[in-house]
Amino acid sequence: MLTSITITRPDDWHLHLRDGEQMRAVLPHTARQFARAIVMPNLRPPVVSVAQASAYRQRILSALPAALKNQFEPLMTLYLTDNTPVAEIVRAKESGVVHAVKLYPAGATTNSDAGVTDIMKCYAVLEMMEAQDLPLLLHGEVTDSAVDVFDREKVFIDRVLLPLTQRFPHLRMVFEHVTTRDAVQFVKESSHPIAATITAHHLLLNRNAIFQGGIRPHHYCLPVLKREIHRKALLDAAISGNPKFFLGTDSAPHSLSSKENACGCAGIYTAHAAIEFYATAFEQAGALDRLEPFASFHGADFYRLPRNQGTITLNKETWTVPQHFDFADERLIPLYAGNALTWKMAS
Ligand code: DOR
Ligand code: ZN
Repeated sequence: MLTSITITRPDDWHLHLRDGEQMRAVLPHTARQFARAIVMPNLRPPVVSVAQASAYRQRILSALPAALKNQFEPLMTLYLTDNTPVAEIVRAKESGVVHAVKLYPAGATTNSDAGVTDIMKCYAVLEMMEAQDLPLLLHGEVTDSAVDVFDREKVFIDRVLLPLTQRFPHLRMVFEHVTTRDAVQFVKESSHPIAATITAHHLLLNRNAIFQGGIRPHHYCLPVLKREIHRKALLDAAISGNPKFFLGTDSAPHSLSSKENACGCAGIYTAHAAIEFYATAFEQAGALDRLEPFASFHGADFYRLPRNQGTITLNKETWTVPQHFDFADERLIPLYAGNALTWKMAS
């Protein structure tokens, strides 16, 4: 049995860091493990301009604890709206700070009300992104209330994604946090320059986890967890070695009171043990040797950034995840709170 693995330092290609005191609480968890992270722009107000993205980047860098300074680079994104100016795309590309633009269909998820109401309104912007080679990141769910919540990703492929790939054949895209066999199949088979991120929680849990002996708000995220056949398809894709699939935690911290609520927020917090969660899933699939390319190579290659130089080591060691973390004035409940993990990253 393997008792230790060393891999090139990984990156997180999809992360929610929030802002202010909340950011200060969660940032060290990510920076300890990952060299870089693609930082989501769904703040209130959303990060819609290069100026806002640069200021946010500075706040993140300033919030890094002394021991992690110069060890973590936030890769910024812009929040696409119906009114994003074409000129902002040119500025984004020139900035060297903004690495992608995120599409949130309006109303699809947390802080998405300023998102896109009709993708056709963004065609001029998408054309410029294609010309500038700036990737589009997709929250791939339709918001049509007539569509069953478990089918929203599949319907997005037919209604939005396929037409987009046809109209913008060179626009690089990332289908974020894929949750279905359908999405995996689409990405695998498409000749379009499209990749996908996969979260640790979608590799470890299926939708039964939401209803395990009662309603489990800390297992609620969007896109919502799916059936076991879908979890298996995600795991197969993650361990396949196909460079179109890479690590993106979608770690999404919300305070305890906003999760344990009559209308609880969507989001699962995994940053405290992200690489350990992925190692657990890969080990269960008998594919620990495939963790490194998925976690440390494929994303960098897709984003055309250099692979990281350093390494991290994971040891076979049982430890208990804390029941909660401080989160500004509140508490944050992490995935596996109070439960054991059998891999631990060496500090
Ligand atoms: O579960 C989620 N939480 N899904 C998202 O798309 C957004 C995220 C958040 O920002 O909390
Ligand atoms: Zn997200």
